[in-house]
Amino acid sequence: MLESLWRRPRGRTVARAVRRIAPEPTPPGPPPYPFDLAERSVTPVGALPGPVIGTFVDRLTADDLRRLDEVMQGHPPELWTDADEQSRRAHAIQFALWFEIPGVEERVGLSNAQPPEHIHHMASGPLAAGGGLLQAEQLHTALTDVGAAPGPDDAILDFGCSSGRVVRVLAAALPEARWLGCDPNADAVAWADEHLPGIEFFASPLEPPLPELADGKLTGAYAISIWSHFDEGPALRWLGEMRRVIRPGGHLIITTHGIHSVAYYARRDGEEPQRAIFEALYRDGFLYFDVFPEDEGDWGVKSTGWGMAFMTAEWLQARVTPDWSVALFRPGAIEGNQDLYVLRRER
Ligand SMILES: C[S@@+](CC[C@H](N)C(=O)[O-])C[C@H]1O[C@@H](n2cnc3c(N)ncnc32)[C@H](O)[C@@H]1O
Repeated sequence: MLESLWRRPRGRTVARAVRRIAPEPTPPGPPPYPFDLAERSVTPVGALPGPVIGTFVDRLTADDLRRLDEVMQGHPPELWTDADEQSRRAHAIQFALWFEIPGVEERVGLSNAQPPEHIHHMASGPLAAGGGLLQAEQLHTALTDVGAAPGPDDAILDFGCSSGRVVRVLAAALPEARWLGCDPNADAVAWADEHLPGIEFFASPLEPPLPELADGKLTGAYAISIWSHFDEGPALRWLGEMRRVIRPGGHLIITTHGIHSVAYYARRDGEEPQRAIFEALYRDGFLYFDVFPEDEGDWGVKSTGWGMAFMTAEWLQARVTPDWSVALFRPGAIEGNQDLYVLRRER
């Protein structure tokens, strides 16, 4: 029957007949996603602890460690008693400060001051005692790896320092260098200024310039989880300002959301919402969306162009060169999420 229909000369009749016999077409929909977004192995970040944490650990006495052993008996064994040597070394300072082993704060030279709940801070609890030891170590390692380990002649800014989580550690480990910290959250900066001596803190504006800093005043700057929030406009304007305040040959470390972050959030929040991000990132190299309520901002800091940003290494490199070179790229280095870049000011 089909054959005879096909032989009919009037095409429309043929088409109608074919539609009648043919199976219903399946409604169009997305093809199955070709791979699991959550699966992405993270680049190893190198052995920790390193010289920063080591500096503090080496200041602990045998008596401090004996007392710490006693205190930690009352806590889950995986935290201390059963932990491997590297973890014990990494956490010894934090636990000694948190459990207030007498005299440790002074001996080690690391303040135990903790910002109160209402002051912006990125971490709290025992593993945040003393500040961001791990992040400080990572920054120090990154600078060392590009031949720019911080020394006495350096002036280094923590751009977006909040209440000083990271700069407090670097300043305590390397007090001979000059350390500065700025953030638009004036309360966080005021708390840091009051509780963390030896660091030059100042509240920064939402747009460049940084009036406190003359051209080429800094040998370096770093910004943890700052360019991961800037829309394209502020991202590029602040890179321009960093180029003004960092002298030629100096370094800027930034962390950003990239492909590793897509995998990180897919593991945490499920695959579905991440697909659009992944595709936009592949297509455009950059993606931004607002996440902070207009009336609240980010802990009260209300700025346009401050939300969630994702970028690829190609996108960044194309925009920073030739003023900067990318001296180091560590994908997923920040907790398997954000990428770390060290940019060197070339001209
Ligand atoms: C994710 S936190 C990171 C804080 C700090 N770098 C750390 O790692 O502990 C982001 C910081 O950026 C600051 N911030 C908010 N809006 C900003 C803006 N428009 N420009 C620069 N920093 C901003 C916030 O106040 C906050 O301290």
